[in-house]
Amino acid sequence: MSRQFRVALGCIFVLSLVVFAQSGAGEQSAVKQSFMRAKLLHSQNVLEAITLEDYAGIAKHAEQLRLLSFDEDWQVLHTEEYARLSADFRRSAAGLANAGKSQNLDAAVLAYFQMTHNCVDCHRYMRQSK
Ligand code: HEC
Repeated sequence: MSRQFRVALGCIFVLSLVVFAQSGAGEQSAVKQSFMRAKLLHSQNVLEAITLEDYAGIAKHAEQLRLLSFDEDWQVLHTEEYARLSADFRRSAAGLANAGKSQNLDAAVLAYFQMTHNCVDCHRYMRQSK
């Protein structure tokens, strides 16, 4: 094994540790992690649908996001603040679904922005409450 190769392997190892620690994967089950990641997939799908002016796609993925928030796996904390942040998220997702159904692209962009803000707010709260 060449020296460069060993150094590169070492770097990859350290990087993967950092990513692992950041994702909090050590504390979560794989099932829970894939549940959380599903939010990211659906919101990427919504963005794609918005950019393609695919109203049915906007409504569909927004509705899936809204439904995720009722899932048992969503209820990580049982605090009033977590419930409030979840309700805010649900409202934005519902607004997004409605914008899709009523074929209103500007309303969809606005609701997407609000929903993304709700993602960030809750994650910030999670980091603070650790
Ligand atoms: C009401 C709270 C809440 C909202 C809103 C929320 N999340 Fe999360 N999210 C969590 C919790 C709890 C975790 C688990 C990690 C933790 O404990 O911090 C998480 C984790 C994640 C992860 C990391 C999964 C992994 O690989 O470990 C992703 C990605 C994610 N959320 C995406 C989103 C996206 C995208 C949105 C908005 C469309 C969103 N979340 C909205 C609470 C929320």
